[in-house]
Amino acid sequence: MTIKEYVASRKEEIKAYVSGLKRKPHLTIIQVNEDEASNAYVKGKLKDANELGIEAELIKLPIETKEEEILSLIDSLNHDDKVDGFIVQMPLPKQINEDKVKEAISPKKDVDGFHPLSSLNPCTPQGIIDYLKHEGVNFVGKNALVMGRSNIVGKPMAKLLLKEHCNVTVVHSRTSKEDMHFYVAHADIIVIAIGKQGYLDNSYEYKKDAIIVDVGISRDENGLHGDAIKDLPVKLQTPVPGGVGLLTRITLLENLLKIYNSNSKI
Ligand code: GUN
Repeated sequence: MTIKEYVASRKEEIKAYVSGLKRKPHLTIIQVNEDEASNAYVKGKLKDANELGIEAELIKLPIETKEEEILSLIDSLNHDDKVDGFIVQMPLPKQINEDKVKEAISPKKDVDGFHPLSSLNPCTPQGIIDYLKHEGVNFVGKNALVMGRSNIVGKPMAKLLLKEHCNVTVVHSRTSKEDMHFYVAHADIIVIAIGKQGYLDNSYEYKKDAIIVDVGISRDENGLHGDAIKDLPVKLQTPVPGGVGLLTRITLLENLLKIYNSNSKI
């Protein structure tokens, strides 16, 4: 099943589930940037929520917002019973410390799964694992290669693949080209999140049964592009657009429902 089809079927299930709830779940999004990619993500997240009967609200703050101001807003959302969960869209402007923000969000409301004590996992890596499982991918003892070591994708992705019993390698900007070729050639599952358009191309050798999950997204005059060129000679390659971004969005709402349910049971 393509990611589009998979996400459409998950949406139908969530919509039916939400329509039976007594109270609508509520998601708040805080955005403190003018980033074009963030605008697109936020728009997508609000659209999905709306479609599924989930209340979603955007609080957009000016780029010069001070760290104390955002921490105080987070504190008030942590105590606001109307809000089941909230996220602070990354990136943040320089004057705001990202780690402080992540740690200020109560783990009970942390839909992004960014807090060190959160019981949820970050949406992109979790969405990727869920989709690959749905496709019947066998992880046990497989060579998984994570390209990129960001806090949002690379690091949590490596952790989740390890939990699925993969042999995990993480490569990054300081990995030599020669080693990069070696690891790619031996990988069964490649997750690339480096933000370099078309980095994985025909100069690399791939296992013919390899899976490439393309998290990259960059824009030029011809539209959106991933970190891999199209149609590499592998078994499964996720597209950009219409790929991982959709998985991130659906997982965010699934995380919100998990929080909603755990709060309703108390
Ligand atoms: N920026 C890029 N991806 C994400 C995400 O999953 N969550 C948040 N909060 N910001 C992001």
